[in-house]
This record gives sequence, C-alpha cells and structure tokens, in this order.
Amino acid sequence: MSRITSFHMSFQRLLRVGMVPALAGVCLLSLDAALLSGQATRSERQAPNPAHVTVLQAEQGLTFARDVAPIVQAKCETCHRDGSVAPMSLQTYEQVAAFAPLIRDRVSRGVMPPWPVDKTVGVQAFRDNESLSDGQIKTIVDWIDAGAPLGDPADLPERLVWNDDSNRWPYEDDIGRPPDLVLTAPMYTVEANGRDQWPQHYTSLEEVGGGSLTKERWIQAIGSRPADTDSRYVFHHANVSITDMPGNSPDPMGDETGSIKLIDTAVGTVGMIFPKNTGRVLRPGSQLRWNMHFHPYTRDMDAALQLGVWFYPEGEEPDHYSMGDVSLAAGQGTFTRGTFPASERVRHAQVSNEADILLPPNSVSSMRGYHVLDRPAMVSGLRGHMHLRGKYQIVEVVYPDGSWEVINKLNWDHAWHKLFLYEDGAEPLLPKGTTLILTSVFDNTVNNKHNPDPDQWVSLGDRSIDEMSHIRLEMTYFSDEDFAKMVDERAVKGQLVSEQQ
Ligand code: HEC
Repeated sequence: MSRITSFHMSFQRLLRVGMVPALAGVCLLSLDAALLSGQATRSERQAPNPAHVTVLQAEQGLTFARDVAPIVQAKCETCHRDGSVAPMSLQTYEQVAAFAPLIRDRVSRGVMPPWPVDKTVGVQAFRDNESLSDGQIKTIVDWIDAGAPLGDPADLPERLVWNDDSNRWPYEDDIGRPPDLVLTAPMYTVEANGRDQWPQHYTSLEEVGGGSLTKERWIQAIGSRPADTDSRYVFHHANVSITDMPGNSPDPMGDETGSIKLIDTAVGTVGMIFPKNTGRVLRPGSQLRWNMHFHPYTRDMDAALQLGVWFYPEGEEPDHYSMGDVSLAAGQGTFTRGTFPASERVRHAQVSNEADILLPPNSVSSMRGYHVLDRPAMVSGLRGHMHLRGKYQIVEVVYPDGSWEVINKLNWDHAWHKLFLYEDGAEPLLPKGTTLILTSVFDNTVNNKHNPDPDQWVSLGDRSIDEMSHIRLEMTYFSDEDFAKMVDERAVKGQLVSEQQ
C-alpha cells in the first residue's frame, strides 16, 4: 500500500470518528479544510485567522483595541468581570494592561482560561470551547511582548453588556426560547453542621412543576441550575432519574429498563443538549428521584435544584433515542457494574467496578475499565469524575479491526465538573464490537497540590477526601443500517475535503 493510500485511509477513519488529526506536520488539513469537515471549533471559526494576524503584526503591530480586546471579550469576560467568579475584571484596556505579566504567564502555560481537555490528543471540536486557539495565544503573548499598546481607541469593540439576570437558562439562545417546563426539586435545609449532605427526594413529575405536560414529548435539551442564591452556595451535584414512566420502554431498541437517567449535573455543568436528531422521551405521570449533594455553609440554608426542559416541537420528533449519561468505571478488578444497557452488561460482564479503589500512601497509581459495545454507538460528550487525588482520565477505543485511538484525555481538576459536548458532526462514531477503555491516573503524593494528606490509604467514598473513578459518556445507539448511513455521510464530507487539497 502506498504511503498516500495508507494516509488517506487512516485520514478517512479519523473523519469517521470525528478526530482532529494530531499529526500537525504531516497533516494535509489547512484551517479552511478543518472548517469544512466540521472539525474546527466554533471559537476557531470566529477567531482571526492566525496567518492574517502575523501579516498585521509585520505591517502595523498588534494593538489591544483591534487584536486583543475581541479575544478577551470572548474568552475571559464571562468570569473576569464585575460580580463574576474570577478575582479581577478584564473589561477595559487599563484592567488588562495592569495584569499583563500575569496574563502572559497564565495564557502561555495554558492555565487560563481553564480548559482541562488535553489539546494534544483526541477530538478537539467541542461545543462552547472556552479555550484559546494557538493563534489567539500567540496574539496575546506577542502583544504583551511588544509593550501592550492600546492602539487606536476607535478600533475598540463595543463594550459587552452582561445580562446578569440569574434567571436566564443556558440554552435559551441556542433554542430561541425559555424552557418549556421548569421542574423545581423540593427544598432541603442544608444544616450548618460541617458535614456534606446527600438528601434523596422522590416526587412525581406533577409535584415539581411538570403538570402542564399532557402527552409524550421528546426532550431536546435540559438546563440545570441552583434554584436561588442560597442554593448556589451549597450545591455540589445532583443526579436526577425517572424511576417509573407509564407506557412502553422509551428505547425503540427495547431494553432500557428500571431507572432512566434524566440528567447528571454538578458545579461546572450547565445542562446538556442532545445532538441533532436525537433525544429522550418524557411522559406525564412519571416518577422522579432527585439524588442531591450539598456542602454546608456557616448557617442553615434552604436549597433546591431547578431543571429547565426543552422539547422538540410536536411533529418534529428525532429519529434516534439517546441513552444520555452512561457511566464507565475503572477499578482494580473486573466486577460487573455501570449504567450500560442491561443486555450489554449481562453479555459482556466487562464493566469494571470502582468499589475496589485502593490508593497506597505516597504512590501514583492507575486503573482501567473496559467495555465492548454490542451495538454501534455515537458518543456525543463526556464528563469525568474523580476526587482530590485524581490526575488524568483517558478514554480510548480499540476498533473491531484492531486499530486504536484516543478519544480524549482530561487533565482532572476537581474544581470544574464540566460536561464536554462535541460539535455537531464531530461526535465519535463507534462500530459494534468496539472496546472502550477508561484509564484513571491518581497521584497520592506531595507532588499533587490538591492532596490533603499523602500519608493516607484512600478508598472509594462520597467525600472529596475519598476517591472515585468513572466517566460519563453521552451515548446514543443505532441500528446497523442507521449507523452505516451516518458513516457514509461522514465519509462523503471527507471526500470533499481531500479532493480540494
Ligand atoms: C471559567 C472562568 C474563567 C475564565 C473563562 C477565565 N478565567 Fe482567569 N481566573 C478564573 C478564576 C476563578 C481565577 C482565580 C483562581 C485561579 O487562579 O485559578 C482566575 C485567575 C486568573 C489569573 C491569575 C490572577 C491572580 O491574581 O493570580 C489570570 C492572570 C487570569 N485568570 C487571566 C485570564 C485570562 C487572560 C482569561 C481569558 C483569556 C481568563 N483568565 C479566563 C476564572 C476564569
């Protein structure tokens, strides 16, 4: 096989799974081709072409007003503005220039903006990618090295107006309207007793505000947020399930039984939106379980979680039923556990349990979990989960033909429990028989600055000083025919791209 043919073939496979080729030197993709193939992130589309930036720099020099302010507005202001989470505002030239050396340091080391996805490997096309492109990093660093000039104030972009209405929901702008249903969990009094609290509420859909649902509807997106300011102080995470739903199994492929995940959410996750043409079903009369986790504050506080649910318009139902969050765990042994469909668990008995996590004092350790898919599937997003000793989580796939790829590597940061959703068209498509591998790496030494005590043995537990080791994958399964169609659509896109080279 010629090198070109073999490159072309592996290129096709990368496209099929929605990968960004990591082979920058060999890669035939220009930025434009990456855009065409749907590989580039939304932010890269909006960002100035790095090639143009270089030309400007040579001709006129970088200025804050023209080159840097738009990047800071797009990538820093959400957190660095009055009243938000970061320690200082970066909304004016004076504010940014005053922090120039610190900004240079944090930006060039990739510490800011926080983006715990390893950018050197795996899929990079995420919805709402908050990271800076290499071109943007270079612009900021070169501008600071050139003395951080303001430039012509006439070039300044209009100042952003922040609507700090905390009642705004995450997907309002994407979908164009507020949620169709707002569900509010029962209030729980979080006692100021110094201990984490894990209340469970069992409610009907009607009791929590879902009474207006009169027939089966397909969910397009779910937003989640603490119900008010007090709740925001104490909220850590919530796993919300449908424990009982009238009617047949909502999964047309037939075997989703028992409790069905509505959403798993945590600090740092704002909700989840399903990929095009996929969704989940909700019916009136459903029963819900709200599995909550709160941290106490210095006084007793009433707290609750709200979910905003958007439905697909009636008559525009998606073709594919999504499983939503499916959890893959990595422990020391190979017990059977996880939230894969029941039939797969029985057949493969390969979902590793995390119950047997045991980290020796002053050690670095690693654990793995495996799962073989008995049906073709799409992974539309992922959210890691470890605690303070967590360092990395890596998801790999071995295809039925024996080829192997890394889907993503997350640099674990306990402060950001973020759900990473892939862009439309970039979601990895995995054939039947693919092996999913999760690797968790823990650092229980002094080198881990988050480690509260490296002299302790650490085992599984709910508290942050205990450990966990699982990852949630957003999974949609397909019939063989539907899957073949999707792969063909991706391949056609790949053809167009390579013909343009
Ligand atoms: C998701 C929220 C978020 C975004 C987006 C973000 N930051 Fe930050 N930033 C923080 C928080 C929180 C801190 C303080 C804690 C820390 O240092 O991690 C911080 C700290 C910093 C610091 C260190 C300040 C100090 O005194 O030590 C710098 C510099 C910085 N950010 C620059 C930036 C720049 C430049 C951008 C955009 C390119 C950016 N940040 C985007 C949340 C954010």
